[in-house]
Amino acid sequence: MNIIVCENYDKMSQKACDLITKTLKNNPKGLYSFPGGDTPLGMFRAFTKAVNAGEVDISQANYVSLDEWIGMRITDEGSCGHFNQVNLLDSLEKQFKNTHIIDGAADSPEAEKEKLNSFINQYGPLEVSVLGIGLNGHLGFNEEGVDFSSDAHIIPLAETTKKVMTKYFGNKFSPEYGITQGISQIMNAKTVILLANGVKKAEIIKKALKHPVTNEIPATVLQNHPNVYFIIDKEAASLL
Ligand code: GLP
Repeated sequence: MNIIVCENYDKMSQKACDLITKTLKNNPKGLYSFPGGDTPLGMFRAFTKAVNAGEVDISQANYVSLDEWIGMRITDEGSCGHFNQVNLLDSLEKQFKNTHIIDGAADSPEAEKEKLNSFINQYGPLEVSVLGIGLNGHLGFNEEGVDFSSDAHIIPLAETTKKVMTKYFGNKFSPEYGITQGISQIMNAKTVILLANGVKKAEIIKKALKHPVTNEIPATVLQNHPNVYFIIDKEAASLL
């Protein structure tokens, strides 16, 4: 495992961006996956800047989102799709060759899940999977107790996740389920980059790195990944 502790959020974001753009230069046709949530916003900004400055070419690369709240549309502020659309795709002056953003409000979540699997099967395995981490150690919406062999699936949200989601939606929406890439798809990624910042993530980062691997703390599975980078700020690293 590569653990890179950065001075602050901006340096963490830039470091992740540099690793992604380096990989893109070597693997311009790969499949790249970024999460939603607050954590990757700085990385989105740095990446957009690099693409728009012509430092890296994404025209042959493919893009897939990691997860979504069931019931949420890409136009719903706070949804993962909205994060991806507004902070990444809309800001890019050039686009990826093929892009798949999960539609949490699709008529058939089951069919949407199969679309996600098909896209990853067609263009994958993931070249880079960028992840955030939930306070309970979830990756995407792979919540406590998740089957590590699963591919894309629909899963009831953990209580911790339901509490945290008010930061995205206030009281406007209260989803009960998530749709997510599965742990097997994340673990098949050639490179995994997990980002975490702030003291609130310190406890779970310590568990993810030090606790024996268990599906009760899904992020511990990354201890078994052959090429994983934890790129975290000093505060998130404060209990290591
Ligand atoms: C959210 C998202 C995840 C995200 C994680 C951390 O619920 N579904 O994809 O990585 O939880 O979010 P944040 O970066 O806002 O702390």
